[in-house]
Amino acid sequence: MKPIAVAVVAAPAAPRSHEAEGARVMRICNACRYCEGFCAVFPAMTRRLEFGAADVHYLANLCHNCGACLHACQYAPPHEFQLNVPQALAKLRLDTYTQYAWPPALGALYRRNGLTVALALALSCALLLLAVLALNGTLWHPPLAGDFYRVLPHGLMVAAFAPVFAFAVLALAIGVVRFWRQQAPGPASAVAAAEAAANALRLKYLDGGHGEGCNEEDDRFTLWRRRFHHATFYGFLLCFAATCVATLYHYVLAWHAPYPLASLPVILGTVGGVGLLLGPAGLLWLNLRRHPLHGDAAQRPMDRAFIALLWLVSATGFGVLLWRDTGAMALWLAVHLATVMALFLTLPYGKFAHGVYRGAALLKWSIERRQPNRIKLTDD
Ligand code: HEM
Ligand code: SF4
Ligand code: SF4
Repeated sequence: MKPIAVAVVAAPAAPRSHEAEGARVMRICNACRYCEGFCAVFPAMTRRLEFGAADVHYLANLCHNCGACLHACQYAPPHEFQLNVPQALAKLRLDTYTQYAWPPALGALYRRNGLTVALALALSCALLLLAVLALNGTLWHPPLAGDFYRVLPHGLMVAAFAPVFAFAVLALAIGVVRFWRQQAPGPASAVAAAEAAANALRLKYLDGGHGEGCNEEDDRFTLWRRRFHHATFYGFLLCFAATCVATLYHYVLAWHAPYPLASLPVILGTVGGVGLLLGPAGLLWLNLRRHPLHGDAAQRPMDRAFIALLWLVSATGFGVLLWRDTGAMALWLAVHLATVMALFLTLPYGKFAHGVYRGAALLKWSIERRQPNRIKLTDD
Protein backbone atom coordinates (compact mmCIF):
# COMPACT_ATOMS: atom_id res chain seq x y z
CA MET A 1 0.00 0.00 0.00
CA LYS A 2 1.25 3.46 -0.84
CA PRO A 3 2.66 5.26 2.22
CA ILE A 4 0.64 8.23 3.39
CA ALA A 5 2.22 11.02 1.44
CA VAL A 6 2.88 14.24 3.31
CA ALA A 7 1.46 16.15 0.36
CA VAL A 8 -1.88 14.45 0.96
CA VAL A 9 -2.11 14.68 4.72
CA ALA A 10 -0.08 17.62 5.94
CA ALA A 11 -1.95 20.55 7.39
CA PRO A 12 -2.44 23.24 4.80
CA ALA A 13 0.22 25.93 4.70
CA ALA A 14 -2.30 28.34 3.19
CA PRO A 15 -6.05 28.25 3.84
CA ARG A 16 -7.87 25.90 1.49
CA SER A 17 -11.55 25.54 0.70
CA HIS A 18 -13.75 23.75 3.19
CA GLU A 19 -14.39 21.06 0.59
CA ALA A 20 -10.66 20.49 0.08
CA GLU A 21 -10.10 20.38 3.86
CA GLY A 22 -13.04 17.96 4.24
CA ALA A 23 -11.48 15.71 1.59
CA ARG A 24 -8.06 15.92 3.26
CA VAL A 25 -9.32 14.86 6.69
CA MET A 26 -11.42 12.07 5.21
CA ARG A 27 -8.45 10.70 3.28
CA ILE A 28 -6.37 10.57 6.47
CA CYS A 29 -9.23 8.95 8.42
CA ASN A 30 -9.72 6.46 5.61
CA ALA A 31 -6.14 5.30 6.08
CA CYS A 32 -6.43 5.24 9.88
CA ARG A 33 -10.03 4.11 10.60
CA TYR A 34 -9.53 4.17 14.36
CA CYS A 35 -12.90 5.91 14.86
CA GLU A 36 -14.89 3.42 12.78
CA GLY A 37 -17.38 2.57 15.55
CA PHE A 38 -18.15 6.14 16.65
CA CYS A 39 -20.85 7.16 14.17
CA ALA A 40 -22.10 6.66 10.62
CA VAL A 41 -19.54 9.04 9.09
CA PHE A 42 -16.71 6.53 9.28
CA PRO A 43 -18.45 3.48 7.77
CA ALA A 44 -19.84 5.80 5.06
CA MET A 45 -16.31 7.09 4.46
CA THR A 46 -14.92 3.57 4.02
CA ARG A 47 -17.24 3.12 1.04
CA ARG A 48 -15.24 5.77 -0.79
CA LEU A 49 -11.71 6.26 -2.00
CA GLU A 50 -12.19 9.78 -3.36
CA PHE A 51 -14.07 12.60 -1.67
CA GLY A 52 -15.68 14.90 -4.20
CA ALA A 53 -17.95 17.83 -3.34
CA ALA A 54 -21.10 15.70 -3.05
CA ASP A 55 -19.31 13.20 -0.79
CA VAL A 56 -17.94 15.75 1.67
CA HIS A 57 -21.27 17.57 1.93
CA TYR A 58 -23.01 14.26 2.61
CA LEU A 59 -20.50 13.23 5.30
CA ALA A 60 -20.60 16.70 6.86
CA ASN A 61 -24.34 16.50 7.35
CA LEU A 62 -24.13 12.93 8.60
CA CYS A 63 -21.77 14.15 11.35
CA HIS A 64 -23.57 15.00 14.61
CA ASN A 65 -20.67 17.06 15.94
CA CYS A 66 -20.32 14.84 19.01
CA GLY A 67 -16.61 15.65 19.28
CA ALA A 68 -15.54 12.05 20.05
CA CYS A 69 -13.25 11.72 17.03
CA LEU A 70 -11.39 14.91 17.95
CA HIS A 71 -10.54 13.67 21.45
CA ALA A 72 -9.60 10.22 20.14
CA CYS A 73 -7.38 11.43 17.34
CA GLN A 74 -3.62 11.10 17.43
CA TYR A 75 -3.34 13.60 14.57
CA ALA A 76 -5.41 16.33 16.24
CA PRO A 77 -3.74 19.66 17.07
CA PRO A 78 -0.97 20.18 18.09
CA HIS A 79 0.05 17.34 15.73
CA GLU A 80 1.41 18.72 12.47
CA PHE A 81 -1.50 17.19 10.53
CA GLN A 82 -3.84 19.53 12.46
CA LEU A 83 -6.63 17.04 11.92
CA ASN A 84 -9.97 18.22 13.27
CA VAL A 85 -12.84 16.23 11.79
CA PRO A 86 -15.73 17.86 13.75
CA GLN A 87 -14.54 21.35 12.88
CA ALA A 88 -13.86 20.61 9.21
CA LEU A 89 -17.31 19.05 8.85
CA ALA A 90 -19.02 21.86 10.79
CA LYS A 91 -17.54 24.42 8.39
CA LEU A 92 -18.74 22.36 5.46
CA ARG A 93 -22.29 22.21 6.85
CA LEU A 94 -22.56 25.98 6.71
CA ASP A 95 -21.46 25.79 3.07
CA THR A 96 -24.18 23.18 2.42
CA TYR A 97 -26.89 25.45 3.87
CA THR A 98 -25.58 28.45 1.94
CA GLN A 99 -25.09 26.68 -1.39
CA TYR A 100 -28.47 24.99 -1.47
CA ALA A 101 -30.47 27.90 -0.07
CA TRP A 102 -33.45 29.06 -2.06
CA PRO A 103 -33.65 31.70 -3.37
CA PRO A 104 -29.84 31.50 -3.72
CA ALA A 105 -29.25 35.18 -2.88
CA LEU A 106 -30.71 34.65 0.60
CA GLY A 107 -28.09 31.97 1.35
CA ALA A 108 -25.86 34.84 2.55
CA LEU A 109 -28.20 35.24 5.56
CA TYR A 110 -26.70 32.07 7.09
CA ARG A 111 -23.40 33.89 7.40
CA ARG A 112 -24.88 36.92 9.24
CA ASN A 113 -27.43 34.87 11.11
CA GLY A 114 -27.19 36.39 14.59
CA LEU A 115 -27.89 39.79 13.07
CA THR A 116 -30.60 38.36 10.79
CA VAL A 117 -32.49 36.82 13.72
CA ALA A 118 -32.13 39.98 15.83
CA LEU A 119 -33.46 42.17 12.99
CA ALA A 120 -36.31 39.76 12.21
CA LEU A 121 -37.30 39.81 15.88
CA ALA A 122 -37.09 43.60 16.22
CA LEU A 123 -39.06 44.15 13.01
CA SER A 124 -41.72 41.59 13.93
CA CYS A 125 -42.10 43.09 17.41
CA ALA A 126 -42.51 46.58 16.00
CA LEU A 127 -45.08 45.45 13.41
CA LEU A 128 -47.15 43.36 15.82
CA LEU A 129 -47.22 46.06 18.50
CA LEU A 130 -48.21 48.64 15.88
CA ALA A 131 -50.95 46.33 14.55
CA VAL A 132 -52.41 45.84 18.05
CA LEU A 133 -52.21 49.57 18.71
CA ALA A 134 -53.79 50.47 15.37
CA LEU A 135 -56.65 48.00 15.82
CA ASN A 136 -57.38 48.70 19.49
CA GLY A 137 -56.06 52.18 20.09
CA THR A 138 -54.19 50.84 23.15
CA LEU A 139 -51.82 48.10 24.26
CA TRP A 140 -53.46 47.86 27.68
CA HIS A 141 -57.13 46.92 27.75
CA PRO A 142 -59.84 45.81 30.16
CA PRO A 143 -59.66 42.03 30.81
CA LEU A 144 -61.18 40.10 27.88
CA ALA A 145 -61.35 36.61 29.46
CA GLY A 146 -58.54 35.44 27.18
CA ASP A 147 -60.40 36.24 23.96
CA PHE A 148 -57.38 37.24 21.92
CA TYR A 149 -59.26 37.36 18.62
CA ARG A 150 -60.85 40.58 19.94
CA VAL A 151 -57.38 42.08 19.98
CA LEU A 152 -56.12 40.56 16.71
CA PRO A 153 -58.79 38.99 14.47
CA HIS A 154 -58.28 35.34 13.50
CA GLY A 155 -58.37 36.12 9.77
CA LEU A 156 -55.61 38.69 10.12
CA MET A 157 -53.38 36.24 12.00
CA VAL A 158 -53.89 33.57 9.34
CA ALA A 159 -53.25 36.09 6.54
CA ALA A 160 -49.98 37.17 8.16
CA PHE A 161 -48.61 33.80 9.29
CA ALA A 162 -49.76 31.25 6.71
CA PRO A 163 -47.83 32.74 3.74
CA VAL A 164 -44.62 33.17 5.77
CA PHE A 165 -44.81 29.58 7.04
CA ALA A 166 -45.64 28.25 3.57
CA PHE A 167 -42.67 30.12 2.13
CA ALA A 168 -40.35 28.70 4.82
CA VAL A 169 -41.50 25.15 4.04
CA LEU A 170 -41.11 25.74 0.29
CA ALA A 171 -37.63 27.28 0.60
CA LEU A 172 -36.37 24.44 2.83
CA ALA A 173 -37.97 21.82 0.58
CA ILE A 174 -36.38 23.24 -2.59
CA GLY A 175 -32.98 23.36 -0.86
CA VAL A 176 -33.09 19.78 0.36
CA VAL A 177 -34.44 18.45 -2.96
CA ARG A 178 -31.50 20.05 -4.76
CA PHE A 179 -29.14 18.51 -2.20
CA TRP A 180 -30.82 15.13 -2.65
CA ARG A 181 -30.56 15.28 -6.45
CA GLN A 182 -26.84 15.96 -6.26
CA GLN A 183 -26.43 13.06 -3.85
CA ALA A 184 -28.47 10.68 -6.07
CA PRO A 185 -28.65 7.92 -3.45
CA GLY A 186 -31.21 5.78 -5.31
CA PRO A 187 -34.69 4.82 -4.13
CA ALA A 188 -35.46 4.54 -0.42
CA SER A 189 -37.04 1.30 0.80
CA ALA A 190 -39.55 1.48 3.65
CA VAL A 191 -37.01 -0.24 5.90
CA ALA A 192 -34.32 2.32 5.09
CA ALA A 193 -36.75 5.21 5.66
CA ALA A 194 -37.89 3.75 9.00
CA GLU A 195 -34.30 3.26 10.13
CA ALA A 196 -33.33 6.82 9.18
CA ALA A 197 -36.38 8.20 11.00
CA ALA A 198 -35.51 6.18 14.10
CA ASN A 199 -31.89 7.38 13.97
CA ALA A 200 -33.06 10.99 13.74
CA LEU A 201 -35.73 10.67 16.42
CA ARG A 202 -33.35 8.96 18.87
CA LEU A 203 -30.36 11.09 17.84
CA LYS A 204 -28.48 7.84 17.63
CA TYR A 205 -25.21 9.41 16.57
CA LEU A 206 -24.99 11.58 19.65
CA ASP A 207 -24.37 8.43 21.68
CA GLY A 208 -20.66 8.22 20.82
CA GLY A 209 -21.14 4.72 19.36
CA HIS A 210 -21.24 3.13 22.83
CA GLY A 211 -24.29 4.73 24.44
CA GLU A 212 -22.34 7.04 26.76
CA GLY A 213 -23.05 10.23 24.85
CA CYS A 214 -20.96 12.95 23.30
CA ASN A 215 -18.18 15.27 24.44
CA GLU A 216 -18.69 18.83 25.56
CA GLU A 217 -15.83 20.77 27.17
CA ASP A 218 -13.39 17.84 27.38
CA ASP A 219 -13.00 14.13 26.65
CA ARG A 220 -15.65 13.04 29.19
CA PHE A 221 -18.80 11.60 27.65
CA THR A 222 -22.19 12.97 28.62
CA LEU A 223 -25.78 12.37 27.55
CA TRP A 224 -26.90 15.90 28.37
CA ARG A 225 -26.77 17.31 24.85
CA ARG A 226 -28.92 14.44 23.65
CA ARG A 227 -31.41 14.89 26.52
CA PHE A 228 -31.69 18.64 26.05
CA HIS A 229 -32.05 18.21 22.31
CA HIS A 230 -34.86 15.70 22.87
CA ALA A 231 -36.63 18.21 25.16
CA THR A 232 -36.21 20.90 22.47
CA PHE A 233 -37.17 18.73 19.50
CA TYR A 234 -40.20 17.05 21.09
CA GLY A 235 -41.22 20.30 22.79
CA PHE A 236 -41.22 21.94 19.37
CA LEU A 237 -43.26 19.08 17.87
CA LEU A 238 -45.81 19.24 20.69
CA CYS A 239 -46.22 23.01 20.30
CA PHE A 240 -46.69 22.47 16.56
CA ALA A 241 -49.23 19.72 17.30
CA ALA A 242 -51.09 22.12 19.65
CA THR A 243 -51.40 24.64 16.79
CA CYS A 244 -52.61 21.92 14.37
CA VAL A 245 -55.26 20.68 16.84
CA ALA A 246 -56.42 24.25 17.47
CA THR A 247 -56.71 24.78 13.70
CA LEU A 248 -58.82 21.63 13.38
CA TYR A 249 -61.02 22.75 16.27
CA HIS A 250 -61.49 26.13 14.61
CA TYR A 251 -62.24 25.06 11.05
CA VAL A 252 -63.70 21.55 11.41
CA LEU A 253 -65.51 21.66 14.76
CA ALA A 254 -66.12 25.41 14.90
CA TRP A 255 -64.76 25.46 18.48
CA HIS A 256 -63.08 28.81 18.84
CA ALA A 257 -60.29 29.96 21.16
CA PRO A 258 -59.72 30.66 24.01
CA TYR A 259 -59.65 26.98 24.98
CA PRO A 260 -59.97 25.84 28.61
CA LEU A 261 -56.81 24.90 30.52
CA ALA A 262 -57.77 21.20 30.35
CA SER A 263 -58.29 21.22 26.54
CA LEU A 264 -55.99 19.34 24.17
CA PRO A 265 -54.39 22.40 22.52
CA VAL A 266 -53.55 23.95 25.92
CA ILE A 267 -52.21 20.68 27.35
CA LEU A 268 -50.07 19.98 24.26
CA GLY A 269 -48.83 23.57 24.19
CA THR A 270 -48.01 23.57 27.91
CA VAL A 271 -46.11 20.27 27.89
CA GLY A 272 -44.32 21.24 24.65
CA GLY A 273 -43.62 24.71 26.04
CA VAL A 274 -41.94 23.25 29.14
CA GLY A 275 -39.70 21.16 26.84
CA LEU A 276 -38.99 24.25 24.76
CA LEU A 277 -37.96 26.16 27.88
CA LEU A 278 -35.78 23.48 29.47
CA GLY A 279 -34.25 22.10 26.24
CA PRO A 280 -32.90 25.35 24.76
CA ALA A 281 -31.78 26.58 28.21
CA GLY A 282 -29.76 23.37 28.60
CA LEU A 283 -28.43 23.52 25.05
CA LEU A 284 -27.27 27.08 25.60
CA TRP A 285 -25.54 26.09 28.83
CA LEU A 286 -23.70 23.29 27.00
CA ASN A 287 -23.00 25.46 23.97
CA LEU A 288 -21.27 28.07 26.16
CA ARG A 289 -19.01 25.37 27.65
CA ARG A 290 -18.30 23.44 24.44
CA HIS A 291 -14.65 22.86 23.55
CA PRO A 292 -13.76 25.56 20.99
CA LEU A 293 -12.14 23.01 18.66
CA HIS A 294 -15.39 21.03 18.27
CA GLY A 295 -17.13 23.52 16.06
CA ASP A 296 -16.88 26.54 13.87
CA ALA A 297 -16.63 29.75 15.89
CA ALA A 298 -18.24 31.66 13.01
CA GLN A 299 -21.47 29.70 13.52
CA ARG A 300 -21.87 30.42 17.23
CA PRO A 301 -24.13 33.45 16.68
CA MET A 302 -26.39 31.30 14.46
CA ASP A 303 -26.54 28.45 16.99
CA ARG A 304 -27.18 30.74 19.94
CA ALA A 305 -29.68 32.95 18.14
CA PHE A 306 -31.75 29.89 17.23
CA ILE A 307 -31.59 28.55 20.78
CA ALA A 308 -32.58 31.94 22.19
CA LEU A 309 -35.43 32.36 19.72
CA LEU A 310 -36.91 28.96 20.56
CA TRP A 311 -36.71 29.78 24.26
CA LEU A 312 -38.38 33.17 23.70
CA VAL A 313 -41.21 31.58 21.69
CA SER A 314 -41.97 29.34 24.62
CA ALA A 315 -41.47 31.91 27.39
CA THR A 316 -43.74 34.47 25.72
CA GLY A 317 -46.29 31.72 24.99
CA PHE A 318 -46.48 31.08 28.74
CA GLY A 319 -46.80 34.84 29.19
CA VAL A 320 -49.95 34.80 27.07
CA LEU A 321 -51.34 31.81 28.95
CA LEU A 322 -50.63 33.19 32.42
CA TRP A 323 -51.82 36.74 31.73
CA ARG A 324 -54.63 35.99 29.30
CA ASP A 325 -57.32 37.08 31.76
CA THR A 326 -55.67 40.45 32.46
CA GLY A 327 -55.29 43.79 30.68
CA ALA A 328 -51.74 42.78 29.64
CA MET A 329 -52.94 40.04 27.28
CA ALA A 330 -52.60 42.14 24.10
CA LEU A 331 -49.03 43.03 24.96
CA TRP A 332 -48.04 39.42 25.65
CA LEU A 333 -49.87 38.28 22.52
CA ALA A 334 -48.09 40.82 20.30
CA VAL A 335 -44.66 39.89 21.66
CA HIS A 336 -45.35 36.15 21.47
CA LEU A 337 -46.60 36.38 17.89
CA ALA A 338 -43.53 38.47 17.02
CA THR A 339 -41.22 35.70 18.25
CA VAL A 340 -43.17 33.13 16.21
CA MET A 341 -43.02 35.37 13.14
CA ALA A 342 -39.25 35.84 13.58
CA LEU A 343 -38.87 32.06 13.88
CA PHE A 344 -40.89 31.44 10.70
CA LEU A 345 -39.03 34.18 8.79
CA THR A 346 -35.62 32.76 9.69
CA LEU A 347 -36.44 29.03 9.53
CA PRO A 348 -35.00 28.55 6.02
CA TYR A 349 -31.92 30.76 6.65
CA GLY A 350 -30.73 29.63 10.08
CA LYS A 351 -29.85 26.73 12.33
CA PHE A 352 -33.18 24.97 11.70
CA ALA A 353 -31.74 23.83 8.37
CA HIS A 354 -29.50 21.36 10.25
CA GLY A 355 -32.50 19.11 10.95
CA VAL A 356 -33.53 19.01 7.30
CA TYR A 357 -30.08 18.31 5.84
CA ARG A 358 -29.13 15.89 8.63
CA GLY A 359 -32.40 14.07 8.03
CA ALA A 360 -31.53 13.76 4.33
CA ALA A 361 -28.00 12.56 5.10
CA LEU A 362 -29.32 9.95 7.55
CA LEU A 363 -31.74 8.70 4.91
CA LYS A 364 -28.96 8.49 2.34
CA TRP A 365 -26.86 6.50 4.80
CA SER A 366 -29.71 4.05 5.45
CA ILE A 367 -30.11 3.58 1.68
CA GLU A 368 -26.41 3.36 0.97
CA ARG A 369 -25.56 0.81 3.66
CA ARG A 370 -28.04 -1.59 2.06
CA GLN A 371 -26.35 -1.30 -1.31
CA PRO A 372 -23.34 -3.45 -2.30
CA ASN A 373 -20.06 -1.92 -1.24
CA ARG A 374 -18.23 -1.15 -4.46
CA ILE A 375 -14.90 -1.02 -2.67
CA LYS A 376 -15.44 -4.23 -0.73
CA LEU A 377 -12.78 -3.52 1.87
CA THR A 378 -15.34 -3.74 4.65
CA ASP A 379 -18.60 -5.63 5.24
CA ASP A 380 -20.67 -2.51 5.91
C1 HEM B 1 -33.88 15.39 11.76
C2 HEM B 1 -34.02 16.14 12.83
C3 HEM B 1 -32.87 16.65 13.67
C4 HEM B 1 -31.61 16.12 13.87
C5 HEM B 1 -31.04 14.83 13.33
C6 HEM B 1 -30.91 17.04 14.73
C7 HEM B 1 -29.61 16.88 15.18
C8 HEM B 1 -28.89 17.81 15.88
C9 HEM B 1 -27.53 17.66 16.29
C10 HEM B 1 -26.69 16.44 16.02
C11 HEM B 1 -27.16 18.80 16.93
C12 HEM B 1 -25.80 19.08 17.57
C13 HEM B 1 -24.81 19.54 16.60
C14 HEM B 1 -25.07 20.88 16.02
O1 HEM B 1 -25.07 21.87 16.76
O2 HEM B 1 -25.30 20.94 14.80
C15 HEM B 1 -28.29 19.68 16.93
C16 HEM B 1 -28.32 20.95 17.45
C17 HEM B 1 -29.47 21.66 17.70
N1 HEM B 1 -30.73 21.30 17.34
FE1 HEM B 1 -31.23 19.70 16.23
N2 HEM B 1 -31.72 18.09 15.03
C18 HEM B 1 -32.94 17.90 14.41
C19 HEM B 1 -34.03 18.73 14.47
C20 HEM B 1 -34.16 19.81 15.32
C21 HEM B 1 -35.35 20.58 15.54
C22 HEM B 1 -36.69 20.31 14.85
C23 HEM B 1 -35.06 21.52 16.47
C24 HEM B 1 -35.94 22.56 17.07
C25 HEM B 1 -36.87 23.17 16.46
C26 HEM B 1 -33.67 21.40 16.81
C27 HEM B 1 -32.98 22.21 17.68
C28 HEM B 1 -31.62 22.23 17.83
C29 HEM B 1 -30.88 23.25 18.53
C30 HEM B 1 -31.47 24.44 19.25
C31 HEM B 1 -29.52 22.92 18.42
C32 HEM B 1 -28.36 23.76 18.88
C33 HEM B 1 -27.51 23.12 19.90
C34 HEM B 1 -26.20 23.84 20.07
O3 HEM B 1 -25.78 24.65 19.24
O4 HEM B 1 -25.61 23.57 21.08
N3 HEM B 1 -33.16 20.34 16.10
N4 HEM B 1 -29.33 19.05 16.30
S1 SF4 C 1 -10.18 11.17 13.50
FE1 SF4 C 1 -8.02 10.63 13.78
S2 SF4 C 1 -8.09 8.74 14.97
FE2 SF4 C 1 -10.11 9.02 14.10
S3 SF4 C 1 -10.08 7.88 12.17
FE3 SF4 C 1 -9.54 10.00 11.72
S4 SF4 C 1 -7.32 10.00 11.77
FE4 SF4 C 1 -7.97 8.18 12.82
S1 SF4 D 1 -17.71 14.52 15.58
FE1 SF4 D 1 -18.80 12.67 16.25
S2 SF4 D 1 -20.45 12.48 14.76
FE2 SF4 D 1 -18.92 13.83 13.85
S3 SF4 D 1 -17.56 12.53 12.67
FE3 SF4 D 1 -16.65 12.74 14.71
S4 SF4 D 1 -17.42 10.95 15.84
FE4 SF4 D 1 -18.74 11.21 14.05
